[in-house]
Amino acid sequence: MSQAIAHVNGAWLPLADARVSVLDRGLLFADGVYEVLAAYGGRPFALDGHVRRLARSLREIAIRDPHTAAGWERLVQELVDRNGGGDLSVYLQVTRGTDVSRTAAFPEGARPTVIGFCQPLPPASPAALADGVAVVTRPDVRWGRCDIKSVGLLPNVMAIQHAREHGCNEALFVRGDRVTEGASSNVFAVLDGAVVTPPLSHEILPGVTREVLLRLLRADGQDVRERDLNLSELLHAQEIWLASTVREVLPVTRLDGEPAGGGRPGPRWKRAWELFQKEKKGLGAGG
Ligand code: PDD
Repeated sequence: MSQAIAHVNGAWLPLADARVSVLDRGLLFADGVYEVLAAYGGRPFALDGHVRRLARSLREIAIRDPHTAAGWERLVQELVDRNGGGDLSVYLQVTRGTDVSRTAAFPEGARPTVIGFCQPLPPASPAALADGVAVVTRPDVRWGRCDIKSVGLLPNVMAIQHAREHGCNEALFVRGDRVTEGASSNVFAVLDGAVVTPPLSHEILPGVTREVLLRLLRADGQDVRERDLNLSELLHAQEIWLASTVREVLPVTRLDGEPAGGGRPGPRWKRAWELFQKEKKGLGAGG
């Protein structure tokens, strides 16, 4: 990546010099939403899905969308181009804007703050692909609208830190006996030969990687089910996978310190990974 360039409210400047106000409601109230997407070889991946989700997040918290879908797509491509193309992650954030009163109620006439920047997107670690990754479970203490990609991420931050301190790649949130999703990923399991992932609800983020995988697996003729996933089932699953923009699809082989998901990356994960790589190269079935 050449010098990192950020976008702040229509201006382009070096990332190190990019600033927002201390009165920004994103900072004061976590009153904003965000997106993370990947670009491969300078081409944004699943861009329409990310732009659609961003528009939905904004709608759900009643922030005026400052761009049309085409406007967002142009902005993302310009961010990628100005950052030298290649393999990048693109971060976008929109907050309700700045307001001197610091009252919780929506301020009159505030203009949404828009920021965007890119970071290098490292390829998956060969060890993670060869051996799988470890996860820990954590109680899902998040709010009741996890389908909104809110910048209010403290429970996720705490869970991910816990995972790191225990040598794990990810924390899996558990509500009662149900596994909802990872702190920054969606979860899949292979149970009795079927690929299972929790259904869309207010309890999980509608992951774009999840959506792409479901489409690819179904087009591949696989038995795919969107249904609740119990922790007891996960403990005995033939395979467990994590899916996210940054991870793509990773096999899980340890859960709470014990071997899990068959203890080795399984054949169904391998197939899913291959389908995903093909899709990335633009050789997939489209859609
Ligand atoms: N996180 N669930 C949560 C809670 C997430 O934060 C993410 C993504 C996902 C997967 O969504 P997607 O496939 O659209 O990336 C699921 C991003 C990558 C992040 O916070 O960095």
